[in-house]
Amino acid sequence: MHGLWEQVQEAAAAVRAKWSGTPRVGLILGTGLGGLTEQIQTEASIPYGEVPHFPSSTAPTHAGRLVCGTLQGIPLVAMEGRFHYYEGYSLRQVTFPVRVMKALGAELLVVTNAAGGINPQLELADIVVLEDHINLMPDNPLRGVNDDRLGPRWPDLCAPYDRRLLSITRDVALELGMGVHKGVFVAVPGPNLETRAEYRMLKALGADVVGMSTVPEVLVAIHANLKVLAFSVVTDLCLPDCLEPVEVPKILENARIGGEKLARLIPAVLSRWAASP
Ligand code: HPA
Repeated sequence: MHGLWEQVQEAAAAVRAKWSGTPRVGLILGTGLGGLTEQIQTEASIPYGEVPHFPSSTAPTHAGRLVCGTLQGIPLVAMEGRFHYYEGYSLRQVTFPVRVMKALGAELLVVTNAAGGINPQLELADIVVLEDHINLMPDNPLRGVNDDRLGPRWPDLCAPYDRRLLSITRDVALELGMGVHKGVFVAVPGPNLETRAEYRMLKALGADVVGMSTVPEVLVAIHANLKVLAFSVVTDLCLPDCLEPVEVPKILENARIGGEKLARLIPAVLSRWAASP
């Protein structure tokens, strides 16, 4: 079995052999944002190494797992740890788990990431729900021969982020008394952070937040006809005229604080969505 479609079927079969549930939701947890898995009623926890064709983790400290179970009674599969382009994976590898989520039965992909705040109104640990994106990665996961079983050759991106889920998120955030911004995410390849001149450029392009992930997964989700909802947590402020060197522990601390907000927001949003999808 060599084709992508066959590989996806094999991977999905391996997950099904360990978990009999059918997920309605796939969830990708970004850097430092794994806390949400504590709320999942876990029924199976599968190391990536046990799923055929999943990229093998190059860093032993970063071994991830697929957490399968329910959140607010909704069956879901969550990725604890994602694959990044800057680690050396192809975008086809980075996005393979999204294909598997779809094959398992998911209707909705929820993506989270740690991101730099470009819009000067953003503060550390703020939550931004994505309403659009700009792709500055030098590759595309859909490049190559298209397999029509996986999706169309030219997927439409006029509204990649589901409008009803955006409006549910706004309503739920208001009810929780939680400030949530809406914004445009720009994806860069990394692994370096940006120069002052690059932050100025990204702002001029119309971006509110910048990060090194998410867009490849969203492109594949749209190709696979999944609904998409995505959140950034602002972990550092990208203000070109008072830029300070990034300190990774500070980024992780801000991700943790923002992650606590997401751990309240996302289950409530999913619960409302599941009641009338
Ligand atoms: N730039 C790119 N990616 C990021 C940043 C940033 O400032 N912060 C977190 N991820």
